[in-house]
Amino acid sequence: MRVSPEDHLTIGEIVRRTGVPASALHFYERKGLIFSERDSGNQRVFSRHMLRRISLIIVAKRLHIPLSDVAEVFATLPADHAPTHADWQRVSRVWKRRLEERRRAIETLEHELTGCIGCGCLSMKACLLLNPDDALRDHGPGPVRLQPGRPPARRRSSAG
Ligand code: FES
Repeated sequence: MRVSPEDHLTIGEIVRRTGVPASALHFYERKGLIFSERDSGNQRVFSRHMLRRISLIIVAKRLHIPLSDVAEVFATLPADHAPTHADWQRVSRVWKRRLEERRRAIETLEHELTGCIGCGCLSMKACLLLNPDDALRDHGPGPVRLQPGRPPARRRSSAG
């Protein structure tokens, strides 16, 4: 798609406006998070509304939202104009849920680590941090799956 000169910015202008290095912009473009176009002189240019997308990437980085999650929500954003107020509300709700999930995971790890303080047992049976996904723990010690009459492994829910 060709763009009008007043609606496009060179990569240098984008760098100056956002403070994001050109190498990072190229990386975001390779990841499909932003798009460039060609002007009448066949120069790579970015539509002005890409500034909004780049701003959202900057916010996501501050929140430690992985680029894979950014790509997921960007896939739902309009490609031909800036995200709207409603778009940003939707995206921010998704990212808030991600932060809440991360907070809960950190609280779980913190709780498990608290159990280790002053313990030092480093037990594969008892220490939740050393053996976090031991689905067979409830069925007793040893190679549970290899013992006749023992139940098969069940995955523990990460929610509880
Ligand atoms: S080191 Fe003993 S419970 Fe983790």
